[in-house]
Amino acid sequence: MKATNSGKVQKFFTERASEFEAIYRPRKGPLHRFLDWYFRRSIPERFRLTLENCQPIEGRSVLDIGCGPGHYLVEFAKRGADRVMGIDFSEKMLEIVSENASLVGVSDKLELISGDFLTHAFEGEFDYSLAIGFFDYIPDPLPYIEKAKGLSTKLMVMSFPKKWLLRTIIRKVRLTLKGCPVYFYPRGKIVRLLKEAGISDYRILSVYRDYLVLAKPG
Ligand SMILES: C[S@@+](CC[C@H](N)C(=O)[O-])C[C@H]1O[C@@H](n2cnc3c(N)ncnc32)[C@H](O)[C@@H]1O
Repeated sequence: MKATNSGKVQKFFTERASEFEAIYRPRKGPLHRFLDWYFRRSIPERFRLTLENCQPIEGRSVLDIGCGPGHYLVEFAKRGADRVMGIDFSEKMLEIVSENASLVGVSDKLELISGDFLTHAFEGEFDYSLAIGFFDYIPDPLPYIEKAKGLSTKLMVMSFPKKWLLRTIIRKVRLTLKGCPVYFYPRGKIVRLLKEAGISDYRILSVYRDYLVLAKPG
């Protein structure tokens, strides 16, 4: 199976960067609010759980894989993380990160990399690595998990969208029509992937439409 997902996913997120960023803002109108509740309530909850589990933050380092508009990056920087790096292959997303960071005065704390996580050569390791809303778009996650494991020392936080939900079918159809490939995971597949990546110390939390994996790199 092809491991990389560039091309269609990159185009999709570049065209819809502002739309994705808006999900984090309180939305107007009953329809938008219903859609956010039905399809996306895992987004604020996985954000909360990530911050709760990456402790302490002050003085620590974090790598955000597929950082998107950078809400995690900005929050880690605000809470005193020492090294805060985000990588995304959508330039438009990185522009939004820069805008968000400058609004709260943490621009100088962020290192932003424009590129593909799988091929970028990183320097050093990070206490925490995050891959949130990322594996949704990855056809073959194993090499990504293995690479993230090699870069992390304390905790890896990864989300995987659940397979067996009505919302899954609706999302699959919606994204396929928009030209973006999307992948879903039964719990057993996540367990197998973690085993193949040599990860044995982990928890899998159920967070609405997602599983959130908290894993010790070992
Ligand atoms: C749904 S967004 C999630 C953003 C952020 N993690 C969050 O939860 O708010 C997924 C992001 O991953 C990026 N992405 C997907 N595959 C990538 C890859 N192989 N390398 C770098 N970025 C990637 C996309 O461009 C997109 O911005």
